[in-house]
Amino acid sequence: MAATVLDGRGAARALTAEVFGQISELSYTPRLVFIRAGDDPASGAYVRSKSRMAERAGIRAETRLLDSGTEQVELMRLISELNDDRDVDGILVQLPLYPHLDSRPVLAAVDPAKDVDGFNPINVGRLWSGEPGLFPATPMGLIRLLDHYRIPITGRHVVIVGRSNLVGKPAAGLFLRRDATVSLAHSRTRDLTSLTAAADIVVAAAGVPAMITASMVKPGAVVLDVGQSPVDGTLRGDVAPDVADVASALTPTPGGTGPMTVAMVIANTLSAARSRRSTDG
Ligand code: GUN
Repeated sequence: MAATVLDGRGAARALTAEVFGQISELSYTPRLVFIRAGDDPASGAYVRSKSRMAERAGIRAETRLLDSGTEQVELMRLISELNDDRDVDGILVQLPLYPHLDSRPVLAAVDPAKDVDGFNPINVGRLWSGEPGLFPATPMGLIRLLDHYRIPITGRHVVIVGRSNLVGKPAAGLFLRRDATVSLAHSRTRDLTSLTAAADIVVAAAGVPAMITASMVKPGAVVLDVGQSPVDGTLRGDVAPDVADVASALTPTPGGTGPMTVAMVIANTLSAARSRRSTDG
């Protein structure tokens, strides 16, 4: 049985069109500011892609490039200026920053109401306590993709492989909010296969190319691949190609979870703009 391909590009296009429709009815243009280290080619590509899609959805996007001499205090000052700028709706600090910069206080300084990546500890707390807030785009995109294909989540056993702050941990919280039963596996997990083989939905987010193989997946399971590791000039996912023979549905790499991340940053910017501007006067 060949798995259904979960087309992230198509689902992202549908979501972006929906956001575009909603933005075109606003009396203002939402504004999103990216901050990134100037020397990282992958960050450059991600930010360009997010920025292009944002513009297409009717958001004014701009990028502040940090040079390698940027000091922590300057970056903190930039965050503070953007927090205070009433016209800025969203602030996204693309990681990684330079090694001499500590990203933790930077992410914590972003106004939680403008935190379109959901990395501020206030939003992390809101995620886990079931409150409304802004939540990380990649795991939000996974759930949105399942909803797009009407794949049920409630009561399903979701096994997430990888415990990063960017994907694994927030994915666990978001699937829990949707009443899934969640297991969060990681590099020290014993007998990973017995866990993944019991999963209705597998989220592969370890950053290890092809680590999830067909023998680790229950026939008929849904498999979401978040891995994007550069191998010989192409991006490889965490899921081996033979998983397509046992899964009922599977995301391709590229064209699966990646485009959904971009679309969710845009959706988060609209949410941020709406909440801010309805309370801001
Ligand atoms: N670097 C890799 N993934 C991400 C992401 O989702 N957001 C940010 N800000 N940086 C990243």
